[in-house]
Amino acid sequence: MKKAAVIGAGMMGHGIAQLFAMAGLDVVLVDVNEEILDKALKEINWSLGKLVEKGKLTDENAKKTFLRVKATTNLEDACKDVDFVVEAVPENLELKKQVFSRLDKASPNHTILATNTSSLSITEIANATQRPEKVVGMHFFNPPVLMPLVEVVKGEKTSDETVETTINLAKRLGKTPALVKKDVRGFIVNRILVSMFTDACHAVRRGEATMEMVDATIKYKAGLPMGAFELADYLGLDIVYSVSKVMEEAYGERAKVCPLLEQLVKEGKFGQKSGKGFYDWTVGRPRIPFKLAGKYDVERVYAVSINEAAWMVYEDVADPQNIDTAVKLGTAWAQGPCELADNLGIDNVLAKLKELYNKYGEEVYKSCPLLEEYVGKGWLGKKTKRGFYTYE
Ligand code: 3HC
Repeated sequence: MKKAAVIGAGMMGHGIAQLFAMAGLDVVLVDVNEEILDKALKEINWSLGKLVEKGKLTDENAKKTFLRVKATTNLEDACKDVDFVVEAVPENLELKKQVFSRLDKASPNHTILATNTSSLSITEIANATQRPEKVVGMHFFNPPVLMPLVEVVKGEKTSDETVETTINLAKRLGKTPALVKKDVRGFIVNRILVSMFTDACHAVRRGEATMEMVDATIKYKAGLPMGAFELADYLGLDIVYSVSKVMEEAYGERAKVCPLLEQLVKEGKFGQKSGKGFYDWTVGRPRIPFKLAGKYDVERVYAVSINEAAWMVYEDVADPQNIDTAVKLGTAWAQGPCELADNLGIDNVLAKLKELYNKYGEEVYKSCPLLEEYVGKGWLGKKTKRGFYTYE
């Protein structure tokens, strides 16, 4: 594999293109206008500069890497001689299908077409091409240059060879691949993040806590790198909203989109990239007061995340090991949700979910039957030497 194309030069697209170039591949970055491409090239240059500053890349290497990135508005021209394509255009199924139909016609027969979709169906996107066996999900995490995970998602017709090539490519880009066995909405990591965010957002909507209380608790008590609202703003509320909508369609009431998010998106407040979102980013990264840590119930953050992980095990989407690795590498949590459940005691997690469900009657708190089953069998986690994992 020598040459790749990345379609869409936004936050994800330009980061993915940079990764290809850093791995020694020539890469063409494609978008609809020169202005977006110029901005993307500037961002890549900035990021390479940061890596030099941190001693992760030599100055000479950074210069060579930058020269390997070309930019164009001509998709057909960009794809005519590439071995691999990653699509990273906005999260809209119709748009992605149109792009894939064009990619299919423009690319050589051997070329694998990957989508960086956060939540949409790989199978449906693949069906817009004549080569569904060569279409795969390759889901990076923001910022792609720093986050070590790539979820590799198999559509119904994706061949084993395509999956294997994509896994090897992810490794070549310096990433740890996590295989998602089923083409489910939100794959692994976004299901966990959306469940945590949805609970937090509804809590703020009900006036139970402020977003600063939630974020301070998540950051300083749970020890996650960013609060739920801070992370949503960082990722882009337009993106979080479209992912949440897809999840709502797939999982119903359990993933009910929070009206606060909907309102901000309607007002064009997309978070960091537009200056305003839940926080005001025009004055820099939000300062989340340490003194508010613990003013929100941290057990609740854990319980909803663990419940979603349990659903994934129950539906055979991924095993506990894969879920934990994906969450730790995709979003920098110190412990994955299954490990966390075993450490906290699955009986305690279940009790918290029942308390929340009795209080609010909302589906997001309805416990997964797997948790009930484990508790019924006495599999409470580390303390009984059996939970999501087995202990000696
Ligand atoms: N390239 C190079 N360097 C970068 C960079 C990039 N793209 N982005 C940030 N940096 C640098 C910063 O400039 C900073 O350098 P400095 O020390 O010289 O100032 C350094 O990295 C550390 O950054 P910060 O001090 O700003 O902040 P943190 O220590 O909090 O690190 C973070 C930033 C790595 C983003 C960390 O906060 C984190 O891991 N957050 C969680 C991110 C996450 O969960 N991502 C996944 C979300 S889900 C997703 O993407 C899926 C999609 O489908 C929605």
